[in-house]
Amino acid sequence: MNILITGAPGSGKGTMSRRIMDTFGITHISSGDLFRQYIKEDTEIGALARHYIDQGLLVPDDVTIEIVKERILCFNEDQGILLDGFPRTSIQAHAFYEIEKKINRPIDVVINLVVDKELLIRRITGRRMCPECSTIYNIYLNPPRVPGVCDNEGRTLFQRPDDTLDALSVRLNQYDIHTEPMLEYYRKRGIVKDIDGSLGVEPVWKEIKELLEKIDGNPRD
Ligand code: AP5
Ligand code: MG
Repeated sequence: MNILITGAPGSGKGTMSRRIMDTFGITHISSGDLFRQYIKEDTEIGALARHYIDQGLLVPDDVTIEIVKERILCFNEDQGILLDGFPRTSIQAHAFYEIEKKINRPIDVVINLVVDKELLIRRITGRRMCPECSTIYNIYLNPPRVPGVCDNEGRTLFQRPDDTLDALSVRLNQYDIHTEPMLEYYRKRGIVKDIDGSLGVEPVWKEIKELLEKIDGNPRD
C-alpha cells in the first residue's frame, strides 16, 4: 500500500504518519524531516533549505524533487511507502508521477487532513518534540507526563525554529497558494480522502486506520 499524507502545517501529518508506520509497517518519507537532517549534517543542501524553511517559504521544486527522488529510488524493499509533505506543489506532483511509474508503486490513497486555521496556530505554537525519538507533543493538546520532558527517552523537548507565529503565517499562505491547487491533480485521479483532522488524535487515527484497513484488506487489532 502506497500513501500520500497531506494537509496544512500542524494538521497532524507527522503524528498520523508515526501511527500508520507502526501499524501497517510502511516506510515513512517526510520531505521536511529530510531537510532537517541535511541541516543537522551541515551540508550545502541543508544551508540552502534552511534559508527558505526559517522564513516559512517552500524550498525550490528542483532541489526538493531531487532529494525525495534520491530517497525513494534507493528504497527497494517490499513494504509500501508513506510520503509525508511531498508532493506539495503541482510541479512536484507531475514530477512524482514519473517517479511512480519508474518504481511501479502507484499511490493508492491521498489522505488530506482538514483543520481550520485557528486550531493550526494552537497546534504549531504548542508543538514540542523529542530530539532522540522524534515523538511529537503539544503543551496544550497532547502534553508529556512531565512538562518539557519526553515520556519515552527522558530527554528535554525542543521547539522547531519555524514554529513561530511569523513563519507560520507565511507557511499557511504557501499552503493556500501551492498545496491546495496541487490537491486538484489527485482529486481528478479520484484518490483523495478528506479526513476531519480537527478532532482529537484518537478519533482521527480511528478514521485513518479504518480507511487503510479497507484498502489493505487486512484488519488490525
Ligand atoms: P514540514 O516539516 O513538512 O512541515 P509542515 O508541512 O509545515 O507540517 P508540520 O510538520 O509543521 O505539521 P504536521 O502536519 O506534521 O503536524 P504534527 O503531526 O507535527 O516542512 C517544513 C518545511 O520544510 C516547509 O515549511 C518547507 O519550507 C520545507 N518543505 C518540506 N517539504 C517540502 C516540499 N515538498 N516542497 C518544498 N518545501 C518543503 O502536529 C502538530 C501539533 O499538533 C503537534 O503538537 C501534535 O501533538 C498536535 N496534534 C496533531 N494531531 C493532533 C490531533 N488530532 N489532536 C490534537 N493535537 C494534535
Ligand atoms: Mg510534520
